Amino acid sequence: MGSFTKVYIAVQESVPQRKVAIKVLHEIHLRNDKDAPAKLKREAYYLGMMRSPCFPRAITTGITNDGLPFLVMEYVEGPSLDAVIRDRRRLPYYEAMELAVELCEGVEEMHSRGILHRDIKPANLALENTSKYRTHLKILDLGSAAPISQCGPNMQDGKPLIVGTPVYLAPEQVRDGSSSIQSDIYQMSATLYEMLTGVKVIRTKRKDLEGYTEYLLSDNPIPTHPIGDIRPDVPYEIELVIEKGLTKDPRYRWKNATEYMNALLDAAQMVAARNQDKKAGGMRTVLRTLLRRMGKK
Ligand SMILES: Nc1ncnc2c1ncn2[C@@H]1O[C@H](COP(=O)(O)OP(=O)(O)O)[C@@H](O)[C@H]1O
Ligand SMILES: [Mg+2]
Repeated sequence: MGSFTKVYIAVQESVPQRKVAIKVLHEIHLRNDKDAPAKLKREAYYLGMMRSPCFPRAITTGITNDGLPFLVMEYVEGPSLDAVIRDRRRLPYYEAMELAVELCEGVEEMHSRGILHRDIKPANLALENTSKYRTHLKILDLGSAAPISQCGPNMQDGKPLIVGTPVYLAPEQVRDGSSSIQSDIYQMSATLYEMLTGVKVIRTKRKDLEGYTEYLLSDNPIPTHPIGDIRPDVPYEIELVIEKGLTKDPRYRWKNATEYMNALLDAAQMVAARNQDKKAGGMRTVLRTLLRRMGKK
């Protein structure tokens, strides 16, 4: 269950072996927000634009007998990344690299179609077991997505109008309510950080929008604790790539998800070649798969 919606699992009567997910808007949300009925339709529209296996397919939208808007989509069979992190706490870095590359692939597709996600975080990603041999990262919840051209600064009465989840917001998002390819890159990096460390990228006493805003707009470091302090076994090359996605000034982050993906692959190659680390074997196996999949080998 998310904050604005309830998600149900159902079976399609005509194809009973196929499960679907039905995302239904909360009644309270419908009452308080005039734009609410259009939201799930937009989400279906954006999902419908995507062609890669990184997203569930949208099936249909409608209104329940009680007047609540719903979206039916392919059911993703597998845990959310958030649940995986809570369960396993920290992922081996080569496993995290594989998921990171898949995340880049999906986000690149959204960006190349002119759409920002704006709410990238472990709870909105799921790991689907597509076969006995393979899991695939799926990007869920395009409920905050919007065309890049409509995501400039957004202030009302001197306050930024914020979209997204407070702890994953980039500094410029809390400053002026704007989102961009660079803020999605920041949120991807905050997600990768969490996969490796098991903790949130920002740690502050007040865990609400005001608390995170105050933290992000002061002189505090991002991330609060460098990856290397928590996970000394993560190679420095990988740490650097992720931290470049978290710079305070968006101009110094990776330009786009493809550049990010290539930097991750280059770092992985350096680590695999070094051969000192016990985990380099795992990295080599993952790297071979990734390079083949990307048509680079
Ligand atoms: N297609 C799907 N298949 C399986 N689970 C889903 C699917 N869509 C959403 N969920 C689950 O429901 C939760 C809430 O859905 P989400 O789209 O994130 O809605 P919200 O906007 O309310 O956060 C997700 O975190 C996920 O666990
Ligand atoms: Mg969500």
